[in-house]
Amino acid sequence: MTKRVGIFVSGGGSNMRALVEDMTGDHAARATVVLSNNADAGGIAWARDQGIATEVVDHRPFKGDRPAFEAAIDAALAPYNLDIICLAGFMRVLTAGFVAPWQGRMLNIHPSLLPKYKGLHTHARVLEAGDSVHGCSVHLVTAALDDGPILGQATVPVLDDDTPDTLAARVLVQEHRLYPAVLRRFAAGDSRMVTL
Ligand code: GAR
Repeated sequence: MTKRVGIFVSGGGSNMRALVEDMTGDHAARATVVLSNNADAGGIAWARDQGIATEVVDHRPFKGDRPAFEAAIDAALAPYNLDIICLAGFMRVLTAGFVAPWQGRMLNIHPSLLPKYKGLHTHARVLEAGDSVHGCSVHLVTAALDDGPILGQATVPVLDDDTPDTLAARVLVQEHRLYPAVLRRFAAGDSRMVTL
């Protein structure tokens, strides 16, 4: 049976686009709904234009009450009977209470070679550290931030004249290759690591 995928975005949603565009033909999954905490997220407008269902759950009225925010997300998602959630630039931390029922079925993409550089500002931190290789990871989401079994990684070289922005752009190109490759394999029931 075709797997039903929900994709969470907070911003431009370029990774979400890459996932949606790959979920055609013999892919075992289809994009069912795109959810954002931000009504102005570019990704939401794009998904709507594609005819994909969208849901917006603004975190701000919850004033830091994460369980209440997550209960609202749960309610918004309930009608879609999702099999898999893909976090794709979703910039809210999810609590253990939300993650637990999805463990093993929720993926995230992170712009570093995990377990290095969890959290924010990964590109600047790589440059500060003087690393010669950087990249991105797709992993299963657990309650710990940017943790959980790694399903795929892609590398890029760090160049002498890189800035955080040039490095981010180079990593993003790889993100757009890696996330669809991992989801394609994962949706087909294969959790072997993808390396690009
Ligand atoms: C991507 O680089 C993604 O890896 C990163 O945000 C960007 C979203 O871009 N995610 C995180 O930093 C999560 N901690 P996009 O909206 O164009 O896909």
